Amino acid sequence: MELVLPDLNMAFDDVGHGQPLLLIHGFPLNREMWKPQIEALSAHARVIAPDLRGHGETPPTPGPYTMEMLADDCLALLKALEIMERVVVCGLSMGGYVSLAFYRRHPERVAGLVLVSTRAAADTPEGKINRDRAAEQAREEGPQAIVAAMLSKILSPHTYSQNPGLVAGVERIMAKTSLEGMIAALQGMKERADSTDLLGQIKVPTLIIHGADDQIIAIREAEAMHRAIKNAQLVILPHAGHLPNLEQAQLFNKCLLEFIKKIGLDK
Ligand code: MLT
Repeated sequence: MELVLPDLNMAFDDVGHGQPLLLIHGFPLNREMWKPQIEALSAHARVIAPDLRGHGETPPTPGPYTMEMLADDCLALLKALEIMERVVVCGLSMGGYVSLAFYRRHPERVAGLVLVSTRAAADTPEGKINRDRAAEQAREEGPQAIVAAMLSKILSPHTYSQNPGLVAGVERIMAKTSLEGMIAALQGMKERADSTDLLGQIKVPTLIIHGADDQIIAIREAEAMHRAIKNAQLVILPHAGHLPNLEQAQLFNKCLLEFIKKIGLDK
């Protein structure tokens, strides 16, 4: 589906009924990465999965895409869909940065947070230099250079050896990111605020999921969020890298479903 928001034709899926669940994808991915979740969870919840600006089927706009801008795009989508009740916000990696920005700006809209393969900290000085290098490389060699670099480390060793179909599928999804979208997202992530102080203020149930073999964001980042967010639950999934929702889809769905059901019971 596609919806015209104030300055954006936003592509999204909206499947199922009940507790709204907003799925925010990572970089340089799109909503296709949530296919196993959309299929399994739409029997229990209303699953809304947008393509962020410049990713998948949502066209690029001039950057940088700040995490706040991307969070507000998600809110605009919820409003356009007339979803006024509180939503479970689930974001992976960059989607997690957007989820934290969403909570910072619109806490009254959030029923629960699911932070997957992500971190609260801002980029380190070295991380910022790497963002510029990646943007430069994308400009010079094309977006496929970034896709190749990400593809070499985004999954667990187990997935690379046992599931070549998934490796090829992830490459296909990443290949849909436009050059402009890629550069604008890199700039936005480079500039993003440190959310560490926010963690102690989170008052909604929070589930943190991380792959045991994540080579992009270290497990210690998930553990730090777990310590700082009151009553948060931490799940480490075995044989999973940066995309545990795809690498361990069944286990991931089970955790997410239990979390959503608990939120329903707590209401
Ligand atoms: C992502 O998966 O969204 C990115 O790897 C996050 C990042 O580069 O910080």
